[in-house]
Amino acid sequence: MTTDTAAQAAYVVAALLFILSLAGLSQHKTSRSGVVWGIAGMVVALAATVGLASRSITTTGLVLIAVATALGAGIGLWRARVVEMTGMPELIAIMHSLVGLAATFVGWNGYLDVDAELSGSLLAIHHAEVFIGVFIGAVTFTGSVVAYLKLSARINSRPLTLPGKHVLNIGALVAFVALTAAFVARPNMGLLIAVTVIALALGAHLVASIGGGDMPVVVSMLNSYSGWAAAASGFLLANNLLIVTGALVGSSGAYLSYIMCKAMNRSFISVVAGGFGTPSAAADEGEQGEHREINAEETAELLGNATSVIITPGYGMAVAQAQYPVAELARKLRERGVEVRFGIHPVAGRLPGHMNVLLAEANVPYDIVLEMDEINDDFAATSVVLVIGANDTVNPAATDNPSSPIAGMPVLHVWESANVIVFKRSMAAGYAGVQNPLFFRDNTQMLFGDAKQRVEDILRGLDALDAPVPEMAGSSR
Ligand code: TAP
Repeated sequence: MTTDTAAQAAYVVAALLFILSLAGLSQHKTSRSGVVWGIAGMVVALAATVGLASRSITTTGLVLIAVATALGAGIGLWRARVVEMTGMPELIAIMHSLVGLAATFVGWNGYLDVDAELSGSLLAIHHAEVFIGVFIGAVTFTGSVVAYLKLSARINSRPLTLPGKHVLNIGALVAFVALTAAFVARPNMGLLIAVTVIALALGAHLVASIGGGDMPVVVSMLNSYSGWAAAASGFLLANNLLIVTGALVGSSGAYLSYIMCKAMNRSFISVVAGGFGTPSAAADEGEQGEHREINAEETAELLGNATSVIITPGYGMAVAQAQYPVAELARKLRERGVEVRFGIHPVAGRLPGHMNVLLAEANVPYDIVLEMDEINDDFAATSVVLVIGANDTVNPAATDNPSSPIAGMPVLHVWESANVIVFKRSMAAGYAGVQNPLFFRDNTQMLFGDAKQRVEDILRGLDALDAPVPEMAGSSR
């Protein structure tokens, strides 16, 4: 068997391992094996690629590849070990930006180093691949960098609304099509520089135009773009595995974005087109009346007398690492005969399944953790709802205010219960940057402070409720 045949066979094995990995990652139970299949696929793919390359490159080249692989693997291992769960989306975004950058470089290299054997229509196809690869790569690069900056709160998460923003986006796409035709007819560096600049600007603008509440969809959309960028590089490098893998990532990312758009009642086309057709930035900022406060002892008393409690956790629970005392609170209340359930919004926190992972980590039983659709009708019959570090996902403006940036997004109907206690540190807005009218409702009380400390205070308050009342000196027997 020649090296080429062996490498192609290894590529088929790697592609199958990647498909198995995707299948494994689709369920909690099998996700660990999904990761193992993915690692195995990548090892096979790297070995086959280096084996193929070794035929035509010098020893120095091979040493450079080994150094680059060791460096990349080292940085990857270090980041994966130290990253907090709350920092995962930004890590993913910055990784997508690297895929985009690599695709842009591969495209540029394809222009500078054309295979001398290519001519006629094959050469034209090659130049079209170069142009498309550079375009998708550069859009992915800057789009992912802006997503990273928004997710890590280094820039404001509110949507950028430049005048005529949709005309700008459509203009960039029209220019891309026209420049592609011109480049295929007469390839030159000026046109390649022009498309690179246009794509860099378009990527940044598309993501900057999208509001914070829609960022989960954007991250998965960028995941899809990075897949198509890799597939474009695969065509340029004549690497079948890169084409297959890129297409897998591209299509699964697009499908995930579509599912998320449906779950959040967003138009898929609108999000892809940089917020096309979404309401303009809200006018519902600032304080919206008086809010009432409650302390931990009073909350403990309220909970001690409740018959049913629903806990709706959000990003703040993750930041405070409050899942362990929250689990303990649920256990104690259940021991007292209170019905306790958790209501989980699909985009609570900063990545899909974020809350489920934290609650599982703290050993909260699966059967009391319900999805939004399963629990939304039950709030009206609930005595107390504890909103622990959640904000956008419990914002009634999504259902009541058509001009809100989160209008139409399904939310947990916590306000329908008899009492709502909101745990947060201040009256600040949530991730989408909009104020929450829930905080000013008559049945809502704010419990300010770090969520972990406040839940621990409530646990002490519950213990105090159960403690025998010390007898008063001189009381009659
Ligand atoms: P957010 O709207 O982000 O609100 C979290 C709240 O937690 C804040 O209002 C903050 O208020 C409070 N908080 C922060 N640290 C706290 C602490 N130590 N103790 C107590 N409270 C604390 O949360 P959410 O309801 O979970 O909504 C998630 C948002 O993130 C949505 O807009 C969603 O679209 C977006 N997003 C989600 C994902 C995915 S896939 N889940 C990915 C990217 C973005 P204070 O500052 O006043 O304490």
